[in-house]
Amino acid sequence: MKTVLVTGASGFVGGHVVEALARNGIRPRCLVRQSSRLDFIREWSPEFVSGDITSPASLESAVEGMDGVVHCAGVTRALSVKDYWRFNVDGCSNLYRACLAKNPAVRRIVHIGSLAALGPSAAGIPVQEGQERHPVSNYGSSKLAGQRIAEAHMDRLPVVILIPPAVYGPFDRAFLGLFTCAKRGLAPAIGREERWVSLIYAKDLARAVLACLESEKAAGKEYLLEDGHPHAWREVTAAIGQSMHTSPVRVRIPLMLAKLAATVIGCAARCKGKPTFFDRDRLKDFLQPSWTCSSARLRTELGFAPKYNLAQGIAETCRWYTEHNWL
Ligand SMILES: NC(=O)c1ccc[n+]([C@@H]2O[C@H](COP(=O)([O-])OP(=O)(O)OC[C@H]3O[C@@H](n4cnc5c(N)ncnc54)[C@H](OP(=O)(O)O)[C@@H]3O)[C@@H](O)[C@H]2O)c1
Repeated sequence: MKTVLVTGASGFVGGHVVEALARNGIRPRCLVRQSSRLDFIREWSPEFVSGDITSPASLESAVEGMDGVVHCAGVTRALSVKDYWRFNVDGCSNLYRACLAKNPAVRRIVHIGSLAALGPSAAGIPVQEGQERHPVSNYGSSKLAGQRIAEAHMDRLPVVILIPPAVYGPFDRAFLGLFTCAKRGLAPAIGREERWVSLIYAKDLARAVLACLESEKAAGKEYLLEDGHPHAWREVTAAIGQSMHTSPVRVRIPLMLAKLAATVIGCAARCKGKPTFFDRDRLKDFLQPSWTCSSARLRTELGFAPKYNLAQGIAETCRWYTEHNWL
């Protein structure tokens, strides 16, 4: 594979995919918008192509001549259900239609899904591929609808769906808040219940994308991805504290207070016209006791093993935040 189009290349996940492609001798073509920040991908000297996943015409020229496509563009926060649908669902239709029209011989398309689309796990039982899906937020429902579009194209295009849980690493703003709290000696946790999560370090996610692009076996498959162990929330905040040489004190945020805060922050976001990661809709995701999954299929079929455990990934993330003055 010589050339790969990356949608969402200016984002957190897409940026890591661009880096991994470039490091492995594959030339990335980055779909970007006028407003996209390019600081973190410019150093990989990719080709830039201007486009928008809501504009089918721009996608047709972007996919032409590519050996592969990695679809990372989407929104993880939005002001309305309509917006989630426009970007996470219609955007997928537009891209796969453009591939059928202008590049039906594309060798591989990697669709980045989300564990939020499959729904939370039952206590102690990690989610696996092929299970019944029950998203709890508008974000999760829109990601499921996007995934269904990818699945519906599998008979005509060599699509593989890679489904990460929460991703952390350099350039991510969602986990940054936890590091900032740890710096102040605090480890926030919502409610009394211990919560469980699967996680993946962004560099391992990018390596999994490469495996999906290159393996003959991957087309037409769905793969969940995680770092090998479910993590109690306590373990995550402790690892963050350790990376910063602090022992943050656990601060329990009562459920009612979390709901009130999400309502206020959500309203403020709507007034400003700027979506937030912490509103009443996304709170439904955060309140689930368990978001764990198993990457057994990815390991067995593609031989993929993560390189980073939680402590290593968190330590590297902390170093990056510090070096880039994000902390
Ligand atoms: N982060 C996680 O923990 C996580 C976990 C599971 C799955 N995912 C999935 O991974 C994907 C990327 O997430 P992320 O965390 O990297 O989000 P992100 O940092 O917000 O990046 C989103 C990317 O999508 C682009 N984009 C948004 N709307 C677009 C449009 N209309 N046309 C073209 N590009 C558009 C953005 O471009 P601009 O720079 O121009 O805004 C940006 O490059 C999403 O599909 C998400 O559901 C993420």
